[in-house]
Amino acid sequence: MAEESSRRLSGLELLKQGAEARVYRGRFLGRAAVVKERFPKGYRHPVLDEKLTHRRTAQEVRSILRCRRAGISAPVVYFVDYASNCIYLEDIVGSATVRDHIISIQQAERDMEKLYPLAEKIGQVLARMHDEDVIHGDLTTSNMLLRSSAEELNLVLIDFGLSFISALPEDKGVDLYVLEKAFLSTHPNTEKVFASLLKSYSAASKKSSAVIKKLDEVRLRGRKRLMIG
Ligand SMILES: Nc1ncnc2c1ncn2[C@@H]1O[C@H](COP(=O)(O)OP(=O)(O)OP(=O)(O)O)[C@@H](O)[C@H]1O
Ligand SMILES: [Mg+2]
Repeated sequence: MAEESSRRLSGLELLKQGAEARVYRGRFLGRAAVVKERFPKGYRHPVLDEKLTHRRTAQEVRSILRCRRAGISAPVVYFVDYASNCIYLEDIVGSATVRDHIISIQQAERDMEKLYPLAEKIGQVLARMHDEDVIHGDLTTSNMLLRSSAEELNLVLIDFGLSFISALPEDKGVDLYVLEKAFLSTHPNTEKVFASLLKSYSAASKKSSAVIKKLDEVRLRGRKRLMIG
């Protein structure tokens, strides 16, 4: 991380080293923060790389702000440094990813009743996000956090680097298809749980019928591709 950026932070701790970004935890001007740093990739042409990295950083910030303006939970953006492609975000303290949460529920109990309220909540939040024409682009259960809270389910969306703005039902359908694939492969035997997610999405979104129709088409295309390939 650039020297200047690291000076704004204290007590840096590497949370996650990914292929595209490093995520650190620390404090930013006294507040609990995470920093997402998109670093240069040696295998890409430097000019193209900088362009792509800049675009992802900008998209991430734009979509977070758009969600927050619409009342959809996403981390507060504290600061953006385009020189080092770093985003300084509110640390959702004490949160767990939806992925880890589901895994621990599946391990602890045999019946999965507890997963239904969560699935319904996810469906509602995604419906609102899509009604704002935000396409997440990388919906997985790792990119959703559950804020620790007494009884209320408090879902926070993160990781908007591949997001974009679109009103097209097709883009929304593909967004849900990506989640469906990730959800069912990460969490076995959750077909019914995912179905309830889609049901609550449909009930909550004003424009869901065209989206679900597209989702069905995309599924069919996926299956045909499997049969041919
Ligand atoms: N604002 C935040 N508050 C708390 N934890 C966070 C926050 N942002 C990210 N994390 C943690 O860091 C992980 C990685 O963050 P993020 O998904 O944004 O980066 P990524 O490199 O794109 O990850 P991936 O490759 O899994 O998509 C998250 O799964 C989550 O556990
Ligand atoms: Mg992620």
